[in-house]
Amino acid sequence: MSWQVVEQREEGQVDTQIGIDDSTRPVRVGVVGLRHGMRHVAGFHAVARTEVAAVCDLDPERTRAALRTASPGCRAVSWAEMLEDDVVDAVVVSLPNDMHAAYAREALQAGLHVAVEKPLCVTGAEARELVELAESNELVVAALHDFRVDRAHWAARELVRTGALGHVYAARTRWLRRDNAPGSWYRDRARAGGGVLLDLGTHRLDLALWMLDFPQVLDVRAVTSRALLRRCEDDGDVEDSVAAWLELDGGATVHAEMSFLGHLPRAEDVLLELRGTEASLRVSNVGDSYRDYDLTVFRGRPGAHEQVSYPVLPDPPSLYADFVAAVATGTAALCPGDQAAAVAELIDRLYTAAGR
Ligand SMILES: NC(=O)c1ccc[n+]([C@@H]2O[C@H](COP(=O)([O-])OP(=O)(O)OC[C@H]3O[C@@H](n4cnc5c(N)ncnc54)[C@H](O)[C@@H]3O)[C@@H](O)[C@H]2O)c1
Repeated sequence: MSWQVVEQREEGQVDTQIGIDDSTRPVRVGVVGLRHGMRHVAGFHAVARTEVAAVCDLDPERTRAALRTASPGCRAVSWAEMLEDDVVDAVVVSLPNDMHAAYAREALQAGLHVAVEKPLCVTGAEARELVELAESNELVVAALHDFRVDRAHWAARELVRTGALGHVYAARTRWLRRDNAPGSWYRDRARAGGGVLLDLGTHRLDLALWMLDFPQVLDVRAVTSRALLRRCEDDGDVEDSVAAWLELDGGATVHAEMSFLGHLPRAEDVLLELRGTEASLRVSNVGDSYRDYDLTVFRGRPGAHEQVSYPVLPDPPSLYADFVAAVATGTAALCPGDQAAAVAELIDRLYTAAGR
């Protein structure tokens, strides 16, 4: 296997500059839910030929902050107004988890394309229903799985895709937080859909499956615990740690571990390790940041195992430009709803395996 990695993109993927024909008007995006959703306001505002045309939140201060960030002419609207004719072309849902399905469904029924924060929905069945609704109306439904476009994760995916690792037979992924159990609705299973398996696990399992091209999951095991959260005030009813194991079609396995709380040396310990027949790689977080990652590649020879350099790989696209291009030109979205639905279905299976 040569280590020359070809700089090419899969059909359907886009550069950040690719987009909408100059002769067409901008794609108008509306964002509902403006806490984490502020990232999406700024993200879409930065995309060429795109307008953040409307924002919606119950909190006036957050709404004012979004208006300051968004395109000139952006309006603060109610949810009902967002769905009216000719206000926006696409909606971004960044509300608490239990609201995703209903808001996305209403937007699709109003003829709008939809991008949804992770998790797409709190159950696989709701997610699958959205995918079918979008398909039957020729609309885009996509998830904003932002770690896919982190530079190191993107490069890792390129190495797998171009065969540099050979056949990948094992993956290990974790996101272990020492002391970061989100409060409020995140601790209420009825609202969040689950605890750390759903919250951090959606990211980690999506990455592991995406790296391997979403093979069928043949078998799963999972064990959850809420031993540490139980000691907290307002402990809610979700788990604070999970260990899971998957057997994939083709013979690969995935070990996954996630925690909100633990007696751990690092505040944030995030890892994706892929072991292939030709080489292995690790994508691990730098320091206590979970937004900054390093990629290292290893190759073994008899009696030794060495770190090797890898070629410069293409930059990731912008998740926002990718979604706009999918809306405007019909290319496949980088995080299509059916893959997000597969992750939601997997998480359902893991909760069932864990006896929840
Ligand atoms: N990708 C990531 O790294 C990441 C990080 C944080 C959160 N998230 C996801 O983002 C979503 C939102 O999480 P959050 O932490 O911002 O939640 P949050 O509860 O902190 O904020 C939700 C916002 O929605 C608004 N809101 C609630 N009900 C509303 C309604 N009926 N109409 C209009 N606005 C309403 C609230 O006023 C608030 O501003 C969740 O699905 C979460 O899982 C993703």
